[in-house]
Amino acid sequence: MKIRYLTFVALIAASAALAHGGVKDPQVKARMDLMGSVKNNMAVLGDTAKGALAFDPDAVEQAKAALIENAAAIPAAFKSPATDPKSEALPAIWQNWDDFTAKAADMGRAVASVNVDSLESVQTGMRTIGQTCGACHKLYRMDN
Ligand code: HEC
Repeated sequence: MKIRYLTFVALIAASAALAHGGVKDPQVKARMDLMGSVKNNMAVLGDTAKGALAFDPDAVEQAKAALIENAAAIPAAFKSPATDPKSEALPAIWQNWDDFTAKAADMGRAVASVNVDSLESVQTGMRTIGQTCGACHKLYRMDN
């Protein structure tokens, strides 16, 4: 059983690595990894909101703090207009830099407004934060 579990974990890790396997540019890889971290932290809030994870204020607080850091890290991670065939970043980012960074700040503010002691606040917060992801992706990421 234990061995099967470890194989499973190894497979998951391999497929995660594969998703970025073709990315050659280190700056593009770094900003994709940052977004991957955003996704993982959001999963804690999302799973809590829908009851797939038991409500744990400490875990929510940790995810919240990480997401605030993630949002603050977006401008530096995207500053260089680095490209890669695997990148989904649109050139509009660097043509509208102030708006792009404002949208990262919007995400940070939405995350900061979540009250970690209230499940209801996590649920409302998920929607508010999700809108800030969408607002940026719609303009600055391909196929959104
Ligand atoms: C300020 C703009 C901005 C905000 C806010 C933002 N993103 Fe992104 N995100 C991007 C851009 C641009 C890309 C494409 C990066 C690339 O491919 O080079 C991206 C890519 C991604 C990816 C794909 C990463 C990969 O492996 O290729 C995920 C997942 C993601 N974002 C999730 C989120 C979630 C969830 C939120 C909200 C909590 C969010 N993002 C908020 C701009 C943003």
